Amino acid sequence: MPDAMFTFPQGFLWGTATSSHQVEGGNTRNDWWAFEHLQDGGVYDNHVSGDAAGWWEGEAEGDIERMRELNTNTHRLSVEWSRIEPVAGRWNYEALDRYREILTAMRKAGIKPMVTLHHFTNPQWMADRGGWAHPESAEWFRRFAAKVVGDLADLTDLWCTINEPNIYAAQSYFAGLWPPRQQNITRYFQVVRNMVHAHAQAYTAIHDVQPGAQVGLAKHMIDWHPMNPSSPLDRLMSNLLDSFFNGITLEVLATGEWKPLIGRNETIGEAKNSLDWIGLNFYQRLDAFFDPSNLKGLGIGYQARPGAPTGPEAWGELSPPSLLPLIRRLFETLNVPLYITENGMPDEHDTNRPGHLLQSLYWVWKACMHNYPVRGYYFWSLVDNFEWAEGYDPRFRFGLYGVDFATQARTRRDSARLYAEVCAANGFNTQMARTYAPEVVDELFPGVGDQPST
Ligand code: GAL
Repeated sequence: MPDAMFTFPQGFLWGTATSSHQVEGGNTRNDWWAFEHLQDGGVYDNHVSGDAAGWWEGEAEGDIERMRELNTNTHRLSVEWSRIEPVAGRWNYEALDRYREILTAMRKAGIKPMVTLHHFTNPQWMADRGGWAHPESAEWFRRFAAKVVGDLADLTDLWCTINEPNIYAAQSYFAGLWPPRQQNITRYFQVVRNMVHAHAQAYTAIHDVQPGAQVGLAKHMIDWHPMNPSSPLDRLMSNLLDSFFNGITLEVLATGEWKPLIGRNETIGEAKNSLDWIGLNFYQRLDAFFDPSNLKGLGIGYQARPGAPTGPEAWGELSPPSLLPLIRRLFETLNVPLYITENGMPDEHDTNRPGHLLQSLYWVWKACMHNYPVRGYYFWSLVDNFEWAEGYDPRFRFGLYGVDFATQARTRRDSARLYAEVCAANGFNTQMARTYAPEVVDELFPGVGDQPST
């Protein structure tokens, strides 16, 4: 029997993703740096980002060589607001020059940059003024976006305004785990609202500077389900969590109508039609249930399904099949092309990553075959990096390449070898699965697993 091959549409973009604070090092002027250095800072084992993966001081160039080695043709990175505008209204042209250097090196290597303008970190001056809860935050961001695009427009036309507004707002203003560590549900909605507003303002500002720009945002989607579908309370919890994380933000982007669970309804007209594309960041499925021991927390409970494959504790269920319904939902709600702007899993020893990668790509391929306009896939992440509140906890290594943070040495993992083959072939086949992830052969290629390889 010949090998089966899953081929992606012609021109599909294959990439990797990183963010400024997680790889650059030395971002001393943002609120995360301050948070990491608090006495009771909320980072695993008091880790600080330090030099991270060394990008600012020269490691970016070596990693761009690795992008080439992977046969990718795009990379998603972010620019650090606190470097470019270290003091309100004052631009740091040296920082812009360093980004110019990095983006130019990417283009020389045949890598199309997707540039994210906000990926969780804020300049300290902005945090001091109240951060994203401040009514003027959208205007500060618009000004910054216009500046960056004005300066770097000759190097890319693919812009991602804000990474995961809901995750940022939930972690920082609801769960109280990230700076500024607040636990205030009203603030959560206020911050998401301000970020949507900022996105919409930046969308217009970017198009004013670069009319042909392709502007979107990266939407993190958790695939929520009721733990027991026949329990009305579990269904209620699942619907509530889905609205909170997903639905309300999608609705305002689709219709311009902002309808928070708490707070005033409002029309944000410019949010409608503010996407040239939508990004999907997908990592987990969670099943919701009514938890009577958590009445203070509205009875909300959620967990991975018992026995399902998960990442490290509390990470949730790895659920590659969720990709298809989430892609469908994004397309049906927003009616724009899509990129998978992040997908991956933490796996220090690369035991499950190759199989998870193939399983995930299978569902992205299915979506393409259903004619959903998925234009590209960005694997999180190119290299191990600083994983926010998990810091450098070894259980949270996401890279195709491992990083020794003491020496900046890189190690190529098997999943990098696999991804290089996938990107070169614009798809994957039985042979790749047999070589890198024999455990998924039967699932992805039923009936051919026992055939001798040719
Ligand atoms: C995303 C985030 C990334 C990375 C990833 C892995 O939510 O955008 O910065 O941390 O999760 O956990």
